[in-house]
Amino acid sequence: MTSVSSAAAADAPCARGLFVAFEGGEGAGKSTQARLLADALRAAGHEVVLTREPGGTPAAEAMRAVVLDPQFAGLDARAEALLYAASRAEHVARLIAPALGRGAVVITDRYVDSSIAYQGVARGLGPDVVGQINLWATGSLQPDLTVLLDVEAAAGLARVVEPNRLESEPEAFHAVVVQAFRALAFGDPDRYLALPAVGERDDIAAAILARVESLLRARPTP
Ligand code: TYD
Repeated sequence: MTSVSSAAAADAPCARGLFVAFEGGEGAGKSTQARLLADALRAAGHEVVLTREPGGTPAAEAMRAVVLDPQFAGLDARAEALLYAASRAEHVARLIAPALGRGAVVITDRYVDSSIAYQGVARGLGPDVVGQINLWATGSLQPDLTVLLDVEAAAGLARVVEPNRLESEPEAFHAVVVQAFRALAFGDPDRYLALPAVGERDDIAAAILARVESLLRARPTP
């Protein structure tokens, strides 16, 4: 069910779990909704791996510390894109692909679309080149479903307490990020669930769970 290109088939062992990514600008409530989904699926008896980017393995967390460190304020945009892609390669190889291979539901707080929106569009590197780097980094592993929690940049930034290096970018940068996510979701409604992040927390959680449950029901039995 998880889509993997033939070139990457060897890297992604027998992908048969379900891969769900949460995306969105700052302060959209992704982490809360990812945790609520994980709790609900675990209560229903599924093996769930809840993880985040950048990070998810010890080495990827070390890369996270570098890429988000405000002391590297002027970090080169290509170096930034490659650090996110490097941490993602490690994350997929060591955590995500093995978990999908044993049939788990993997829920990640951010994935490739964050690189396309932040580095490809807002930093101006180009969505296509950033997408290509990430296809290589991930062995073309794509989520079965991407949940986009959509919030206006100003409202989201107002919820950030201690801004990291990316969150310290001006509101105009984050407004571009928000638009980029919307464009991605609009272009592929089958693989995205886009929801306004301003609704009631439990209503949002219920809508996400309903969509994920329908994907789980459609999963081929092993
Ligand atoms: P984090 O504290 O995890 O923020 P959030 O809770 O909003 O996910 O910081 C991750 C930051 O890194 C966030 O500002 C988005 C940014 N980012 C990118 O620019 N590119 C990426 O590929 C990823 C995964 C994150």
